[in-house]
Amino acid sequence: MSQKKHSVAIIGCGRMGQEYARAYAAYPDTEIVAIAEYHPERRKAVGERFGVEALYPDAPALLRDIVPDIAAVVTPVKYTKEAVIACAEAGVKGVSADKPLAAVLSDADEMVETCAARGVVFGGGNLQRAMNEVQEAARRIRSGAFGALTGASVHGFGGEISGGGCQHISVLRLFAGAEVEEVTAWGTPEEALAGDTDDGLIIHGRFRMTSGLECPVFGTPTPSTGVEVWSEDALVRWNWAPPEVFQGFDANGRRIRLNTNYAPYSWSEFGYLTGSIRSLIATVETGSDLWISGHDLRQALEVAIAAKLSAMRDSAPVRLPLQDRSLSLYPRPYRWLGGDATGQPQSAAEAKGGA
Ligand SMILES: NC(=O)c1ccc[n+]([C@@H]2O[C@H](COP(=O)([O-])OP(=O)(O)OC[C@H]3O[C@@H](n4cnc5c(N)ncnc54)[C@H](O)[C@@H]3O)[C@@H](O)[C@H]2O)c1
Repeated sequence: MSQKKHSVAIIGCGRMGQEYARAYAAYPDTEIVAIAEYHPERRKAVGERFGVEALYPDAPALLRDIVPDIAAVVTPVKYTKEAVIACAEAGVKGVSADKPLAAVLSDADEMVETCAARGVVFGGGNLQRAMNEVQEAARRIRSGAFGALTGASVHGFGGEISGGGCQHISVLRLFAGAEVEEVTAWGTPEEALAGDTDDGLIIHGRFRMTSGLECPVFGTPTPSTGVEVWSEDALVRWNWAPPEVFQGFDANGRRIRLNTNYAPYSWSEFGYLTGSIRSLIATVETGSDLWISGHDLRQALEVAIAAKLSAMRDSAPVRLPLQDRSLSLYPRPYRWLGGDATGQPQSAAEAKGGA
């Protein structure tokens, strides 16, 4: 770890932003120097809670005074693009956004491309792909320890395929070491298929990966609700926890579960948010690979859009990358607009860290 303290700004300091603030306030090599929070009472509460005096209503106001090394954008999705691009244009070295990245595909493109053009590290937020054990399982797959992959599957791809579904797509792409290149999907219920959002939409279908793998997609729990990949004799199962690994078969033909013995990780206090943040810092310092990136979130949005499109077209196969970048899939209103606008505000007492 470097001796230098990275200056950090939190942009949007509601429920999830406060989780980022707790983490960045705890690490020895980061210091929160400013917070942009739109709601005046909450702004004051989080300023006191995290000992930050430089408080602003939004990213443009903050960036006029302070350009931090790192900015965590944790606003409702509607405001993510403006904040990410303002940070990138101001010269922030590393910026993160949470899930889903956007509703319109071209907005996701604009964020990824602006960061890339300016050499800004664009991290991807609180996703299970950034869990240390998920990363280690992926390294073992990649090392050839289980042989060549022969199959993959996604389970429980329903409820909110853009909001929560990017967890599945991000792990699938990591384990498979490939992109989704074609989506064939069936969607229920009718009302969800007819709407603009992913709210309640359940998708069954199949993804074809660029590696040639055919990946069945189960919209409901199977009983797994995660992602599996397998080879001739091994299976790796991510099911919202450190991945299980099986290799070989016993006398009854059942898979034999291996003791995974994942290496201890020095940063464990904040669950997989830790992996996301520590990997962003490492990438800013050394150029190492991000464990979850803005690009990963963009790819996940694209797959979710393609899945809904295929389902609306009577399961016609949809090829990726999508040519029409104006296509969109809106997340449920809470994610899009935040708690204040959707009848679930966080009280100042809660923002201060109370119950
Ligand atoms: N990865 C995860 O596990 C996870 C979990 C929950 C939420 N999220 C995502 O985090 C985001 C925020 O969710 P939340 O639960 O914290 O919502 P929230 O409503 O509690 O907080 C959002 C905050 O952003 C502030 N805000 C709104 N517009 C702003 C702007 N332009 N500039 C600065 N501040 C602004 C609001 O005042 C509010 O305090 C959403 O995108 C959501 O999808 C991710």
